[in-house]
Amino acid sequence: MTSPGPPTRARTTRSTGILLVLLLLVGSACTTDGDDRSRSEDRSRDQSGPLEQPGPSGRPDPFEQLPAVEPHLIDVPDQVFPGRGDPRIDVIHYDLEVRADLDDPTVRGRSRIELRPLTAEPLTSFTLDLRGPEVETVTIDGDEATASTDDHVGQVIIEPEKPLAPGRTSELIISWAGRPASEEFPTLEVPIGWRSDDHGGWFTLAQPDGTSTWAPVNDHPSDKATWRIALDTPAELTGVSNGELAASSVHNDRRRWVWETREPMAPHVLLAAVGDYRLVERSGSGGVPITLAVHSSVDDALVEGFDEVEEIIAFFTDTFGEYPASSGGAIVVPVDLGLALETQSRPTFGTDGVARDHVWALAHELAHEWFGNAVTPVSWEDLWLSESFATYADWLWLDHSGIQDIDDLAAAAERSTGRLAVLDVEAAATFDNMVYEGGARALHGLRHQVGDDAFFDILSTWYEEHRGGSASTADFILLAERVSGEDMANWSEDWLESVDQPDLPR
Ligand code: ARG
Ligand code: ZN
Repeated sequence: MTSPGPPTRARTTRSTGILLVLLLLVGSACTTDGDDRSRSEDRSRDQSGPLEQPGPSGRPDPFEQLPAVEPHLIDVPDQVFPGRGDPRIDVIHYDLEVRADLDDPTVRGRSRIELRPLTAEPLTSFTLDLRGPEVETVTIDGDEATASTDDHVGQVIIEPEKPLAPGRTSELIISWAGRPASEEFPTLEVPIGWRSDDHGGWFTLAQPDGTSTWAPVNDHPSDKATWRIALDTPAELTGVSNGELAASSVHNDRRRWVWETREPMAPHVLLAAVGDYRLVERSGSGGVPITLAVHSSVDDALVEGFDEVEEIIAFFTDTFGEYPASSGGAIVVPVDLGLALETQSRPTFGTDGVARDHVWALAHELAHEWFGNAVTPVSWEDLWLSESFATYADWLWLDHSGIQDIDDLAAAAERSTGRLAVLDVEAAATFDNMVYEGGARALHGLRHQVGDDAFFDILSTWYEEHRGGSASTADFILLAERVSGEDMANWSEDWLESVDQPDLPR
């Protein structure tokens, strides 16, 4: 089969996006009907021609710009946090066992990872991201595999004894131990990854790539999987993670806490915490069980800030569609964090977060369950699909609960934007306010353009069609065009690609 011409639409999901890259790079690509298994590992072709083609948003599509480097160094071509994730594999499930000893900050773990190659040819090597701990043993389908560390890129290169058959699920078992690498949240000087909590426990902050500072994962938002996370703790402490508590058992002086996430979850919204946590169970409205994990040192007054969880979830359910996960809640860690994170089904707050920002922060993080966690940006370049939508949702909540009118919020936001375009790579890399309020203004502009009915139809259709997956800005624009029947080229140019966004009508 001959290679296709330039794309008319960019990636819809990670799999099809990577397929597209390979089609562009491999002149003789042999794809059939969009089956994402039809791929080739040969990415050495030069990158002229269609690779210059900008995406529908006017900027180059990152998935069309794979560098011609050694195959084992090829990562998801994401310009925001380059080097993370391997597009040649799809992780289906992580089964993680973790134990950490605080006296000597060593994390020790073992993962059983179900993955399948996305390549057309048998896969001879692939990478997992890991910075800090060293790999101790690896097997694939029972055979010993080779693991070598690439410290420069921060990943482990894994070579199976026998190449992995395309599309077939393999079982990788990997054990590791060591001191997690230290990193910070972009521009905020907040340490991310694995952290001691100064109360005899520890917790993790995953975004954007903190999980791979302590555990081997395919650390990119385009590769979501189901998870089972088992935390081995001293018997008197509690282990907390995403999803539902599936088991908790004591052996001698240790306890094993097993948490399960059945809805696909990206590594950057993983939560793991061990400490003196109280698990407060509530049965939420709409039947969603709520578990709040609150550290014993945290003030009761602060916990009252979470009384609104159910009400906020109910409002977003009415506005966007069914709550995405089978449980909800939050965790409050005993540290002044300087940020809150949308860890899936159980957002993370510090002792400062809720008290200071109160309602909007809680609404913001809960809104990420729909936008960011259920519908995940396929690339960090699409970060606004997460942050702007969550910001717009927290505006909707503030407006709905009579705290502040949404037009006033959008008008106030105007003053804090204007340095970078919403889609600027630097805006995403720095979590600039443009990807929060700038993009939320863009959504308000869209609402003015298409009217309330079409606008809320766009948001709920977006959620319904991409729930459980990862999607791109181009996907959003096409969907907005389909649902509203209007051309979105000007909207995208004015609001997403321009440094100076238009004024909003009052
Ligand atoms: N994803 C987090 C959130 O917005 C990041 C918090 C960092 N805050 C910031 N303003 N950059 O929920
Ligand atoms: Zn956010």
